[in-house]
Amino acid sequence: MKLFDVYPLNPITITKASGSYVWDDQGTSYLDMYGGHAVISIGHTHPHWVKRIEDQLNKIAFYSNSVIIPLQQQLAEKLGKLSGKEDYQLFLCNSGAEANENALKLASFHTGRKKIVAFKKSFHGRTSLAVAATDNPAIVAPVNETDQVIFLPFNDTTTLQACFDAQGKEIAAVIIEGIQGVGGINVASDEFLQLIRSLCNEHGSVYIADSVQCGYGRSGKFFAHDHAGVYADIYSMAKGMGNGFPIGGILIGPHISPKHGMLGTTFGGNHLACAAALAVLEVMESENLIQLAADNGAYLMQELNKIEAITHVRGKGLMIGFDVPDAIRDLKKKLLSEYHIFTGEAKPNVIRLLPSLAISRQQINDFLDALKKAITS
Ligand SMILES: Cc1ncc(COP(=O)(O)O)c(C=O)c1O
Repeated sequence: MKLFDVYPLNPITITKASGSYVWDDQGTSYLDMYGGHAVISIGHTHPHWVKRIEDQLNKIAFYSNSVIIPLQQQLAEKLGKLSGKEDYQLFLCNSGAEANENALKLASFHTGRKKIVAFKKSFHGRTSLAVAATDNPAIVAPVNETDQVIFLPFNDTTTLQACFDAQGKEIAAVIIEGIQGVGGINVASDEFLQLIRSLCNEHGSVYIADSVQCGYGRSGKFFAHDHAGVYADIYSMAKGMGNGFPIGGILIGPHISPKHGMLGTTFGGNHLACAAALAVLEVMESENLIQLAADNGAYLMQELNKIEAITHVRGKGLMIGFDVPDAIRDLKKKLLSEYHIFTGEAKPNVIRLLPSLAISRQQINDFLDALKKAITS
């Protein structure tokens, strides 16, 4: 049987990983500035994470959500504490798309409304409503097309205000990434997020903070939306939550009430996934990774800004992007093939950096040296 060929692949087979490095089947090591697409939060194969999963595996890996799973409550408590959202409620699922799908659905249940406001260059996942709220017609199947989603320009307060003035009472939710990832690392302004908060308050709409990529400490605060000093009604999470173990979830404000059967999942919140997610939070806390992401990210941005050949360095914490001019458009490929460094990209010309939050200063300096050499060679 052949694999369904949907991914353009790098000709590399990774067989081993540790911290911020991965190794291929020839024994070559690569510095991972991409974090497997922002997934590696505490570092590849962190020993505490491995041990907690191993120990759990020897007890029980899975039972359905028809019984009490104390690990879920432990995860909720730890998550509430680290994120500063202790009065929120947790619903667990398996991926980012599923988290957003549930967030949007819940907003519609809660408000009884149908319209969703999303933004240009957004990416919220590939399931039906998440993809309909994603600004990329190429991945929206005909069956997912809907006129319930209104796309507005990102960071444009005037248009947002006008949209609410015209149809505020029909809007179930506004969904926004605190920092757009797939769209090319575009930081939502504080002013814009604050306006979303106040318009949602005024019109009874739900503010959904898609934190799948920019959340979990990556921006130097637990949620990128925290930089604006506002609380969202729902935060969606995945990627860094399990450090590679598949798990997603939504944090739901205390004013949104659950009803039995409203949401559900077979695998979400299983014992093994909760153990992995707890290990991530324990390491984030004990190694002070959110502060490290803030400090190392500020240093990396400062040094990138000194490199003249690249432009428009932007981001927060360890979620950083810059534009690559046409003359060096093969920079990403070169970094991988000649300098053995994985980076991310966004079309047409953005390099995205999404390393583990535990990356060291030395590793950042190694990256900067290689980047400068790759640019000048
Ligand atoms: C902001 C954002 N939301 C949602 C998703 C979808 O997550 P998943 O691929 O886990 O479904 C992604 C994935 O890249 C993302 O970056």
